[in-house]
Amino acid sequence: MTAPLFAVFGNPIAHSRSPEIHQRFAKQQGIDLIYEKRLVSGSLKDAVQQFAKDGGVGANITVPCKEEAFALCSQLSDRAKAAGAVNTLIRLPENKWKGDNTDGAGLVMDLQRLNALKNGVKVLLIGAGGAARGVILPLQQAGAEVFIHNRTANKAQNLANQFHITALTFDELNTQDFDIIINATSASLSGSSPNLPPAIFKNAQLAYDMVYAQTATPFMQLAHLSGCLNTADGLGMLVGQAAVSYHLWHGFMPDMEQVLQKLRTQ
Ligand code: ATR
Repeated sequence: MTAPLFAVFGNPIAHSRSPEIHQRFAKQQGIDLIYEKRLVSGSLKDAVQQFAKDGGVGANITVPCKEEAFALCSQLSDRAKAAGAVNTLIRLPENKWKGDNTDGAGLVMDLQRLNALKNGVKVLLIGAGGAARGVILPLQQAGAEVFIHNRTANKAQNLANQFHITALTFDELNTQDFDIIINATSASLSGSSPNLPPAIFKNAQLAYDMVYAQTATPFMQLAHLSGCLNTADGLGMLVGQAAVSYHLWHGFMPDMEQVLQKLRTQ
C-alpha cells in the first residue's frame, strides 16, 4: 500500500517548512506519509484538481491562496467562515473538499505553551488584514478579551463590528493595559515595526510576532526596548497550526514542543 499523499500549496513555496514538520509528526505517530510542496503558478483550483487526480487526501494552503481555497470548498468549518480563509483542505467523496482554518488554533496552542493565556486575558491585536481576522474567533473562544488597532483605523473598526470587539486608535492605546500584544501586521516582512506608543509594552506580559525569523523581529526589538520582558516569534504558531491540521487528518495530536526545538536548532 502506498503512503497517503499530502501537500502544501502557495507561491512562493520553496521556503515552506511544512513538509519537514509533518514528516516529524508522522514519525511521532509511527506512520508513513508523502507531503509535497506544490507551487501555485496558475489557479489554485487547477492545482488542487491535479492533486486530487494524483490521489491527494489533504493539503495545507499558504500565502497568497487562502481566500481562493475558501472559495473552492463545498464545506467550511465555523472558524474558516469567521476567518474568510482556508489553510487546511480535507478530502471528501466525489472530489470535494472541506475547508478549515487552523491558524488561530495554532496561535492559541502556542500562547498556551508560553503560559500566556488565562481566562479574561486582555489581548491587543495589531493589524486588520487576513492574518488578524483569522485569529480573533479562536482567541475569543480561548477566553481572551480582544482589542484591535490598525494603522488604517476603519479596517480595524470593520473587524471590531464583525467580532464584537473594541477597536482602538493610536491615542486610545495608552488608556489601558494589555497582557499580550500580538503583531498581526506584515510590517516585519519589510523589516519594520508598526508604529506604536512604547508605553503600551511596559506592563505587557508577552509581545508576540506572528512572523518568525532567525533573529528578533523589529516588533520584538521595540517591545523589548520598551520594557516588555517576554517576546516570541511565530515559529510556535506555525508548528501549532500544523499540529491542528495533522490532528484533523490523522486523529493524532502531535507533540509540538519536540518539533519546535528541532526547527529552532537548524
Ligand atoms: P495579511 O493577510 O498578512 O494580514 P494584508 O491583508 O495585506 O496581509 O494586511 C496587512 C496588515 O499589515 C494591514 O493591517 C496593514 O495595515 P493597513 O491596513 O494600514 O495597510 C498592516 N501593515 C503592513 N505594513 C505595516 C506597517 N509598516 N506599519 C503598520 N501596519 C502595517
